[in-house]
Amino acid sequence: MIGVLFLTRKNVKDEKQWPGEVFTQETQTEWRTAMDRKEVMELFNKRPRIGSLSTANRKGEVNVAVFGSPQMIDENTVIMGIGQNRSFSNLQENPKAVFIVVEPGETIMDWKGARVYLEAMDIETGGGFYEQIKENIAKSSGKGAADMIHAAVRFKITEVRPIVDTGR
Ligand SMILES: Cc1cc2nc3c(=O)[nH]c(=O)nc-3n(C[C@H](O)[C@H](O)[C@H](O)COP(=O)(O)O)c2cc1C
Repeated sequence: MIGVLFLTRKNVKDEKQWPGEVFTQETQTEWRTAMDRKEVMELFNKRPRIGSLSTANRKGEVNVAVFGSPQMIDENTVIMGIGQNRSFSNLQENPKAVFIVVEPGETIMDWKGARVYLEAMDIETGGGFYEQIKENIAKSSGKGAADMIHAAVRFKITEVRPIVDTGR
């Protein structure tokens, strides 16, 4: 059923959009979706929220884990605090990652979410940025959580996609 809906969407201009989506016309008949980054930021920074980070190591072996600290500080940047875990090791070997944030809705059209494609630009285990991240986590989640943070990561956002998309 979802597949049928998508095939139809390619050619229909005024069909109901998924929340946060903007249709853009690339050719006469090809429609792709782009997301309003301000709306994504609102969703991304809501608390509590369900979010997980997918990473891969240098061999392409993938991983996923739940993370609460990622914050979208502007339309192009995400920062987070991270412990000495597999995700951290992966980011050191391969800076590319995807964070998915999902807000369940009553019907499928009411679900909100975004897939935010990332590339780690800075990974710091000391210094002002690291201390700031730890302080923020201590305030929001307590000292125990902050003590587990080994590094602060700054990512640039390379792409944002809705949770349901026809684009490749
Ligand atoms: C709600 C929630 C939020 C979490 N937030 C973080 C976080 O911001 N940073 C972090 O390093 N771990 C966080 N964790 C813990 C990681 O999910 C956990 O350590 C996980 O095992 C890491 O997986 P990995 O070893 O595959 O990377 C959080 C866990 C939960 C349940």
